[in-house]
Formats: sequence, C-alpha cells, structure tokens
Amino acid sequence: MGKKIVDLLTFLLGWIDARFPLTKMWNEHLGQYYAPKNFNFWYFFGSLALVVLINQFVTGIWLTMSYKPDGELAFASVEYIMRDVPWGWLIRYMHAVGASAFFVVIYLHMFRGLMYGSYKHPRELLWITGMFIYLCLMAEAFLGYLLPWGQMSYWGAKVIISLFGAIPYIGETLVLWIAGDYVISDVTLNRFFSFHVIAVPIALLGLVCVHVLALHEVGSNNPDGVEIKKNKDKNGIPLDGIPFHPYYSVKDLVGVVVFLIFFASIIFFAPAMNGYFLEHNNFVPANPMVTPEHIAPVWYFTPFYAILRAVPDKLLGVVAMGAAVMVLFLLPWLDRNPVKSIRYRGTLYKWILGIFVVSFVALGWLGMQQPTEVLTLMARIFSILYFAFFLLMPFYSKWDKTKPVPDRVTYK
Ligand code: HEM
Repeated sequence: MGKKIVDLLTFLLGWIDARFPLTKMWNEHLGQYYAPKNFNFWYFFGSLALVVLINQFVTGIWLTMSYKPDGELAFASVEYIMRDVPWGWLIRYMHAVGASAFFVVIYLHMFRGLMYGSYKHPRELLWITGMFIYLCLMAEAFLGYLLPWGQMSYWGAKVIISLFGAIPYIGETLVLWIAGDYVISDVTLNRFFSFHVIAVPIALLGLVCVHVLALHEVGSNNPDGVEIKKNKDKNGIPLDGIPFHPYYSVKDLVGVVVFLIFFASIIFFAPAMNGYFLEHNNFVPANPMVTPEHIAPVWYFTPFYAILRAVPDKLLGVVAMGAAVMVLFLLPWLDRNPVKSIRYRGTLYKWILGIFVVSFVALGWLGMQQPTEVLTLMARIFSILYFAFFLLMPFYSKWDKTKPVPDRVTYK
C-alpha cells in the first residue's frame, strides 16, 4: 500500500516536472540553496516578514468580507466585525496588530542590514528592492488606517494629504486630486480601500518575489560579512554553506513559534497596546466638524513626523521628511568602507550607528508628543543627527580603522 502511494507520487512529480520546473525550483531555492552556516538571531526577520505578510493577506481577505467601504457604514461595519461576526474580533486584531508587527520586524530586518553591511556590493539591488517594499508598506499602512473611519483615521489622513498642499503651484490641485473631494469624504475612503485591498498588495507581492530572487542570485550575506561563494569545494558547493532546507527551514520555524507567542500575547492581552497600535481616538467615529486635540500618526511613522515638525517651514519640512526616507536608498553608495560586518569595523562606526539608533527612537517618541519648545529643540537636534549619519558617511566610513576580516566564516 505504502509503496503504491510512493510510486504514484513519484509518477505525479515526474509528470509535473516534465511540464513545469517544480523540482528544479525547489532545489534552486530551498533544497540546494546554500546559505552561510553562521546565521544568528538577526537572520530570523526575513522569514518572519513573510509570515506577517501572509497573515495580513489572509486576515485582510476575511475582513473585506464584512467591511463596508462607505462613509456612512464603515465605522459601524468594523463594530459589527468586532461584536457580531464569529471570530471577527480575532481577525481584526490579528490584522491591526499585524500592521505594527510588520514594522517591528522590518525595522529589525533593516537594522541587521546596517550592522552587517548587507546593502553593499553585490547586494545593492537587493537593498533597493527592499526599500521599494518599505515604501509600499508605508503606503499600505497609511491607506489602511483610513478604513475604520474613526477620528484618527479621518484627521490623520487629512493632515498627511494636506502636506502635499505645501508644494508650490500644483499643491492645491494635487490635494484635491488625491482626496477626490474638497474634504476627506466617502470618495477618498473608496479609493483608499481599492488601493489598500488590490493595488498595493499586488505591488508588495511582486516586490517580495523580486527581493527573494535577487537574494538567491547573489546569495546571503552573514554576520561575518564573508562571501561564502569565494570558497567552494570541488563540486562547486560553498564550504561555509549549508542547504537552506532542512537546516534553516527548521531553524526559522523555531523563530516563527517564538514570534507567534509574542504576537498572540499582544492580540489576546493588549491589542490596542495602550493606544500605540490602535489609537484611543480611533474608537470614536470620524467627525469632520470636530478636530481631535492631538493628532499623531501610529508609532512606525512618528520618527518621520517628528522630522516634519522639527522644520519651521512647511515645504522644507515636507522635503526633509521625504528625504529622511529616500536617503536610505543611497546607502550602498554612501558607505565607502569595504568591510561589511560591524564585527570587523572600527569603534567609530559602532558609536555612530549607536547614535543613529538612539536618534531614530528618540524621534519616534518625540513624534508622539504634543510639541513644546524643549521638545521641538530636541527634535531638531535628533533630526540633524539622523541626517548626519547618512551625509557624513562617505567621510567617516573611510576614516574608520577596521580589523582584518577572516577568509572563512567564524562559527562556534
Ligand atoms: C515584506 C517585506 C520583506 C520580506 C518578506 C523580506 C524577505 C527577506 C528574506 C526572506 C530574506 C532572507 C532572510 C534574511 O536574511 O533574513 C531577506 C534578506 C534581505 N532583505 Fe528583506 N524582506 C522584506 C523587506 C526588506 C526591506 C524593507 C529591506 C531594506 C530596505 C530588506 C533588505 C534585505 C537585505 C539587504 C537582505 C539580505 C541580508 C543579508 O543577507 O545579510 N528587506 N529579506
């Protein structure tokens, strides 16, 4: 019986392989994809990003079944999902907490890139595809936040859309074009819904495929920053590589389980995260007549929001905020140091990277606060430090004294 099933499956696989490169693709990307054997904690976040992406897609599809993209009905339809749809509350919280989880995972994934120089040659394009993913994620989160049609959805969207009004000549027309109406209205909600549910997810999915293909073309970097393709055995297999499957598929599974424990704990015990993941004001229906006292975006946007507010001029503030994101694209060319991993870079880079992380977190905190004179001064100082990290990089990355990089990966 068992042999018959195996024979049947072998036949089926042979039949498919003769018509579609299934085994070839499996081997190329999993079974015979050689990844460096010294991956550490920081290498969990790529697969975790994939897990969160799938979570967002699945829960998003189910939310759409009961959500109504209509200015009159949207808020109530979300309440209906929370109270009346069986397990609707769980699906909604998985999606809302998933949005924040996505950014936690992605910020750690990007920070790993900074630590180990993963954006450097030959991975420049991989980094750029990642940056496009990051832009799409920001768009997706911003569009999705309007959908519950709460006070913060409404006023948050209003603040961000009206920023485009600062652009000379075309600003006002642009604001009208984006919102589709003179105020944020049902028209805006409908177009945000279609972009959130169709357009941006398709772009995201395509970009993630390109990202993984680009990764598999050049191969993974690792905590030592050693190119494992430079040391191959006589069969052409990297001496410091191990097949992704089963070694890393199993290891990543452990990461996924630990992540899911944290994820579930938040969903079940603190889904709004005291206003950090779901803002208090968003449990109040959108009211175009009442402006909330304090408007702030969700935590993952606040570092850039703080930079916007730190600049006294509106247009320059918008430019600075945009530049703060776009400058990340240039990283592969700003860094002039040939050494990739922080393990073999000098003390200077370690300090500067530390200051950058402190500045980013501080800006994130400042972006959530009501501005005062002292806080605005702090935001200005941290904004300067944020930009200094990038703009001075061509200089300090050259001056930094590095340590010799080993030929082979180090592995304990
Ligand atoms: C939906 C979002 C994303 C997904 C699903 C994703 C997926 C992955 C996966 C599976 C890997 C290999 C495993 C690992 O190295 O952790 C990886 C590597 C990488 N990703 Fe992403 N990624 C995403 C976003 C980003 C972003 C926003 C950036 C940077 C702007 C980025 C830059 C990189 C780089 C540089 C590597 C190679 C790292 C190395 O080998 O050291 N990724 N990504």
